[in-house]
Amino acid sequence: MNAAQPRRTFLTTVAAAAAATAVLPWSGCKPSEGGSGAAGGGAPGTEPIQVGEFCSLTGTEATFGVSSHEGTALAIEEINQAGGVLGRKLQLLHEDNRSTAGESVTIVKKFINRDKVVAVLGEVASGRSLEAGPVCQAAGIPMISPSSTNPKVTEVGDCVFRVCFTDPFQGRLIAEFARKSLKLSRVAVFSDVSSAYGDGLRQYFSDAFTATGGQIVVQQKYSSKDKDFKAQLTAIKAANPEGICVPGYYNEVGLIVKQARELGITVPMFGGDGWEAPELIQIAGGEALKNTYYSTHFSPIQDTPEAKKFVAAYKARYNGKTPDAMAALGYDSVLVLADAIRRAASAEPAKIKAALVTTDLVAASGRTRMDAQRNAPKAAVIITVEDGKFKFLQTVEP
Ligand code: PHE
Repeated sequence: MNAAQPRRTFLTTVAAAAAATAVLPWSGCKPSEGGSGAAGGGAPGTEPIQVGEFCSLTGTEATFGVSSHEGTALAIEEINQAGGVLGRKLQLLHEDNRSTAGESVTIVKKFINRDKVVAVLGEVASGRSLEAGPVCQAAGIPMISPSSTNPKVTEVGDCVFRVCFTDPFQGRLIAEFARKSLKLSRVAVFSDVSSAYGDGLRQYFSDAFTATGGQIVVQQKYSSKDKDFKAQLTAIKAANPEGICVPGYYNEVGLIVKQARELGITVPMFGGDGWEAPELIQIAGGEALKNTYYSTHFSPIQDTPEAKKFVAAYKARYNGKTPDAMAALGYDSVLVLADAIRRAASAEPAKIKAALVTTDLVAASGRTRMDAQRNAPKAAVIITVEDGKFKFLQTVEP
């Protein structure tokens, strides 16, 4: 696509949001005008502070992008309604990468070069955060991923931050849950090798599971967009595992769980945050999802005042919809950014970056602090499915 032709860049200002309350936040808005010479963050005064968000609003992982964006937009609106940051409004530019490889680089370059954003927010999927990180790093623009968990995302450099835990922790907690709570010793691993996330989590889970005396009796692979998993599942069934770990995203996971049950595989199946989407239940069906478990970042029944306030505001803003982990982390990515701008007393990217390092903020998903690698160690939650509904099981501290 031509970098000069924005496909979907929209402004989220109080006025635009107020005008669009009845519709989805990215529909019916005006394309961004942000031409050359747009006031970036460096300019003091009263100009809006430009923030760019790249997200998967359509395509295979659309629910990730939609949820995350809804949380992000809500936080921007709330901050602006309360007067903005340093007396200036936050102006959110956001653009859809259609869940497609390559698009995020184009979008983020445009945000930086044309719109003069002071920071970039995104993405949910690690693979797409890994694409955009080097662009932000080269330009010295801080990037905050709300929910990418692959460790390599922040290894790109000192401009890349995240407000969530990483997959070495997630792999370990899934392994521990499988060993201790499910009491499994011999498991199968069936992983998405086409995503940085799936392949990484496979490794971290396998290392942790075998380190505690467990055994991986069979390993099978699939790729994103595959639809028929019966050959691999038949091989898994033949090895007679006590459980199956499936590190992947909800579309394929939903089909895998469904097809496994059709083949008569009844053992527990489990995975990580990539499972999280209402579509999982639609694709697999509630019956097939009995005896399945996944870890994630947030549960809407979390009992902190910040979580309750966020859940209520999100429901009010989005027609009663219950927020998921992506929404909570999208929301928190904005709060962390605004907090850094306030503490820096400046919207200059270098100063924001320096302030982000010392983040310590309690928000919707819990307390966010940055470790030395710019990751945010946080508790995880484990979810199961009962009667066709997600059910909170337990919290796991970092
Ligand atoms: N952690 C996943 C990744 O890195 C993305 C994700 C986050 C999915 C939160 C669901 C919920 O790719």
